[in-house]
Amino acid sequence: MKITVVGAGQVGATTALRLAEKQLAREIVLIDIVEGMPQGKALDLAESGPISGYDIKITGSNDYAAMAGSGIVIVTSGLPRKPGMSRDDLLKTNADIITGVSKAIKEHAPDSIVITVTNPLDVMTYLTYKVTGFPSGRIIGMAGVLDTARYRTFIAEAVGASVKDVQAFVLGGHGDSMVPLPSYTSVAGIPLAELLPADTIEALVNRARNGGAEIVALLKTGSAFYAPSAAVVEMVESIVKDQKRILPCTAFLGGQYGLNELYFGVPCKLGKNGVEQIMELKLDDAEKAALHQSAQDVLENIAKLAI
Ligand code: NAI
Ligand code: 2OP
Repeated sequence: MKITVVGAGQVGATTALRLAEKQLAREIVLIDIVEGMPQGKALDLAESGPISGYDIKITGSNDYAAMAGSGIVIVTSGLPRKPGMSRDDLLKTNADIITGVSKAIKEHAPDSIVITVTNPLDVMTYLTYKVTGFPSGRIIGMAGVLDTARYRTFIAEAVGASVKDVQAFVLGGHGDSMVPLPSYTSVAGIPLAELLPADTIEALVNRARNGGAEIVALLKTGSAFYAPSAAVVEMVESIVKDQKRILPCTAFLGGQYGLNELYFGVPCKLGKNGVEQIMELKLDDAEKAALHQSAQDVLENIAKLAI
């Protein structure tokens, strides 16, 4: 499969590196508006092949037409957050960028599955869906895998267990009201509540909610990119290999969870067709209320787009 990454910045370039190292594509294209930059990074990545053991055509371009024939397009173009800036502050600037990129995808890669990364994530994914007009299952946002990975990391540390044994779900919007679900969190099958006191769990949930901002504050410029790119690649792998992984992704809701006409973080089965099924979890009243509050935040931002 040919995979295009739009935006050859921190997340985009690291995603391309991971895709190459996992050999998930036969051809990778990096596209950016900065002249020479995607070409330079693509050449550098191609030259890693003889050492890293991959044999993949990797090219860079400033022309969206270079994405023609892509099976998957990953969209990371846009501004990242700066310290003190919320994801929602990015809304206007990134909406313009995403509108342009989505038109290009519609024209040059009409059969592709699109994975959106640009923030504010839920809104940008919805915008991509609207502008491309693609079936909703072929437009997917990346956030839940990342937010869940952060939550799993903190739980593993608190329990003193391997991250590999921590299973969890973080649902909802990719914002401050995201909803980590302790009731669906276990360590090697042992419910989290049997391993940690409630106040510790609460602190871990809050740290996960602020996981993006914690990195932004430390980096001073730019935002996280190692874990975000790893999250994108886990989604790509499930699609390319038709693995049917059930991963928390930002998907279109048409009535599930009592929500309509928005992109929102829910557990999805990912296969060769994109989102093949949305899994509806049984939630208690407090979890439902938190999810609906998060959806409200996303819907308010969608309303600001005026589309
Ligand atoms: P970055 O600034 O390193 O890279 C963004 C790239 O997009 C730049 O190279 C820029 O030249 C390019 N770009 C801007 N307009 C473009 C256009 N019209 N066409 C093609 N390329 C264009 O930023 P970074 O760190 O890679 O983050 C990218 C986006 O992903 C940000 O919006 C960030 O907030 C978001 N993000 C989302 C995450 C999530 O969980 N969904 C996680 C991490 C980042
Ligand atoms: C993150 O969560 C910035 O949304 C990005 O790291």
